[in-house]
Amino acid sequence: MNISTVYSGVQKITFGKPESITPVSLRNIEADMANAKNLPEALDLPFDLNEIKFKTTARGCVVELPLVEGEDVHGLGLQLKSHCQTGKKKVLRVNSDPVADTGDSHAPVPFYLSTNGYGVFVDTARYTTFYCGSHQRRQDSQASFDSCQNENIGTSTEELYDSKKNTSSSMMIEIPSVQGIDLYIFAGPNMQVALQRYVMFSGGGCLPPMWGLGVLYRGYAKNNQDDSVKLAKHFREKHIPCDVFGLEPGWMDKSYSCNFAWNDTNFPDTDTFLNQMYDMGYELNLWEQLFVHPTASFYKDMQPYSGDFDVWEGLVPDLSMSEARDIYSKHQFDNFIQRGIHGVKVDECDNSDFIRFPWSFPETSEFPSGMDGEQMHSSFGRLGQEAIMQGFRKANKRTYSNCRSSHALASPYPMAVYSDLYDHDDFIRGTVNASLSGLLWTPEVRRCKSVDDLIRRIQSVVFSPMTLVNAWTIKNPPWLQFDETKNNQDILLDNATEVEAICKELFELRMSLLPYLYSAFAKYRFSGLPVFRALVVDYPEDLAVRDLDTQYMVGDSLMFAPLTAGNTQREVYFPQGKWVDFFSHQIYEGGQAYQLKADVNQLLLFVKHNTLLPFAKPVEHITKDICFDITVRVYGDTPQSCELFSDDGYSFDYENGQYDKLILNWDTINGGSSTVLSNDKSLSKYNITDWQKKY
Ligand code: GAL
Repeated sequence: MNISTVYSGVQKITFGKPESITPVSLRNIEADMANAKNLPEALDLPFDLNEIKFKTTARGCVVELPLVEGEDVHGLGLQLKSHCQTGKKKVLRVNSDPVADTGDSHAPVPFYLSTNGYGVFVDTARYTTFYCGSHQRRQDSQASFDSCQNENIGTSTEELYDSKKNTSSSMMIEIPSVQGIDLYIFAGPNMQVALQRYVMFSGGGCLPPMWGLGVLYRGYAKNNQDDSVKLAKHFREKHIPCDVFGLEPGWMDKSYSCNFAWNDTNFPDTDTFLNQMYDMGYELNLWEQLFVHPTASFYKDMQPYSGDFDVWEGLVPDLSMSEARDIYSKHQFDNFIQRGIHGVKVDECDNSDFIRFPWSFPETSEFPSGMDGEQMHSSFGRLGQEAIMQGFRKANKRTYSNCRSSHALASPYPMAVYSDLYDHDDFIRGTVNASLSGLLWTPEVRRCKSVDDLIRRIQSVVFSPMTLVNAWTIKNPPWLQFDETKNNQDILLDNATEVEAICKELFELRMSLLPYLYSAFAKYRFSGLPVFRALVVDYPEDLAVRDLDTQYMVGDSLMFAPLTAGNTQREVYFPQGKWVDFFSHQIYEGGQAYQLKADVNQLLLFVKHNTLLPFAKPVEHITKDICFDITVRVYGDTPQSCELFSDDGYSFDYENGQYDKLILNWDTINGGSSTVLSNDKSLSKYNITDWQKKY
């Protein structure tokens, strides 16, 4: 065992001989040491590093870390089926349609956080198994012999299994195929700081362009350019907020696999199309895959840098190689980014296991870099994000894109993971869990079961990293008709106008909160604190939130408790302190749960006591010279000051210090005041028009 300190609070421990291809070896973004320095000083770990056990076996290697009574673990990537991982066995495999709580995920991440204030990252691209205190070693004790003597016969699974929980005192991690491993341990003082250290180790959080935090609408896959312009115009005519318009596979000449060329039949005049969309103030996002069809202009160039299996007749590029990334990214840059397209949806880069004739490449695949199919599956999404980012970096344009797979060290990439699955509870859990591993997730809205279902889903996507309506299977927006068949027959709802108004109002709420969210993302970028996060990150001591996966923090001052179709009331738990209903201003004392009601067009949104909340007059979309008119809502007599971040909202120039901060303060005698930190007024995007004391 070899221990070294990476930076304050981050230790690397090497056991045996680790393999050479791992997330750390594949990364192109280094740890953000400069900003990591501003994190609170590290506290000692709750265990001695020498207590970590290691062994190699014919199966690979095993490490075992101590867990103590009362300690819980969370994380392991985008786990859609469970939140608290204590007592679970999880096999982290990339998969597009995980059916149960097995660890299969679009974005599994071999990183966990402990409520005792530390985090552990296992640097591997292998399908690793985490036994999270789930199994008990042989006891050989008289006590267990005695307890068997008095055993009752159980007649239910609960009686048989629950009463005999296999509580163990270790986290056992089995990494297949390898004979050594690097572990990275992130110190507290608490779970939140440990998470921040992991994100800074990954290179920091991402800062989306300002427009990325508006609404993204993806149109019907069969739409041609006129249909797309018509729909885009419709949103503007109806004043429905929308910043980004997404084109689904129909824009491409050959899409499964991709040749990355416009479809001349559907989009015969792309210059006109692009100009029409840009004139209306839209950003464009193109659906793509990473698989390269033989008709792609760069197919031959990519051949030497591709794996030995095809997917949908297309090459699987070895994007761990800079040659492959350069080819990919040059095409993106020359053909799309240069023409003003600022977003991509990287589809089907996960894996397919559970269907007949799985469409993806097998684990036995071989790639020119020496990677095998298992390593490539774990890394493919993240490498794709890197290839995409390369072009945007070159153009000095920020993107806010989508990618259906991700893995470790992905926090600097502004790509929200999404899914074809659709269980609403699982989607909400995705928002709660993703950030525990430095991921972004969108619980996208598609066709729905009912108006109720549609509105509840829109509520939860408005309070998520990306407000995405993925209407790729329907001609008309889902608020005009939620039912797919009727929608495509243009049979609209009788109350379409009313439903549209409710959805529009929700999108406006998102736009009103945009300055608050943008500033929270700036905090994520520089300090690694995710914006949408599980309550356990902020309140790890509170046992009531340890497995709470139905409500979450939105920035530092808001807490959202979503509802799903068919429910107009639910239990809401308030952590310590006072909380205020955003709409009614009713005050709730923390440390307890309340049964609260919310009709279908109402939300359960709460503000932390003593908050200054910037709330903007909603705009329909972001423009280069945007200036928000902001009312500062004052909750409590001694609110904490609030920082509003602004920069040009589009480029990476903020990295060279080109940003501005507006500091809001309130005191009972003089009321509100705002101070601009720099003198560069051109960057300021906020005009404080009013202060409203709420109680
Ligand atoms: C799916 C993807 C959908 C949609 C579709 C288009 O795999 O998850 O969101 O883009 O492809 O063919």
